[in-house]
Amino acid sequence: MRKKIIAGNWKMNYTITEADNFVNEIKDRINTDEVDVVICPNNICLERVSDIIEGTNIKLGAQNVHYEEKGAFTGETSANMLLSVDAKYCIIGHSERRQYFCETDEIVNKKAKKLLEKNIKPIICVGETLEQREKGELYEFISTQVKNALKDISEDDVKNNIVIAYEPIWAIGTGVTATSMQAQEMCKYIREEIRKLYNNAVAENIRIQYGGSVKPSNANEILNMEDIDGALVGGASLTDDFVAIVNY
Ligand code: 13P
Repeated sequence: MRKKIIAGNWKMNYTITEADNFVNEIKDRINTDEVDVVICPNNICLERVSDIIEGTNIKLGAQNVHYEEKGAFTGETSANMLLSVDAKYCIIGHSERRQYFCETDEIVNKKAKKLLEKNIKPIICVGETLEQREKGELYEFISTQVKNALKDISEDDVKNNIVIAYEPIWAIGTGVTATSMQAQEMCKYIREEIRKLYNNAVAENIRIQYGGSVKPSNANEILNMEDIDGALVGGASLTDDFVAIVNY
């Protein structure tokens, strides 16, 4: 039985004071061990949020990492720095990073390997544009993104330490949610691709989230689909809605 994982991606929102107020306000209501709950604040807020959630079941996640160990990479954050604030997860390959910061499949793969080396679990985002969906190119595109991201990553890591987030770009921040059937269909497809790349045990164990306009009104239906093992929540993770989604 795969444990659901519900992660809040705050993106570029909240100052330290705002983060402090918000997390203190919701933490008791999202402190559960029925699902894995992950909060992914911006880098400035990581340490503060880490302190606030200490002693709860809530886990800390980052939104990005650099694949090099350390050195002259102005503005970047290393995996060791994430470890120093006790981050357990890190989102990589988000469509916003692919689109605005030129993150390629090859970079995503390097980041995944660096995180795994440090025992931080990568949440690897994949997702098609509306144009690709309408042209029927979505399956091939997603398959390539998954294969490239997982290149040379061990069976054991994919089975136990990697989370994939299917986030169709047309559903992110638009209020348009994929139907639960569309989300299920693609999450199932990703699982079948992983079955081909690895084996049954890996395919049955890996957790695949859906992301894109998840809100309290659709969380239950989405999270009850067979191949959807959680949600990556953007806008709704900044409000009380996140509490309702975690307690779907
Ligand atoms: P929204 O929930 O705001 O659509 O964002 C989804 C997302 O990009 C999470 O990573």
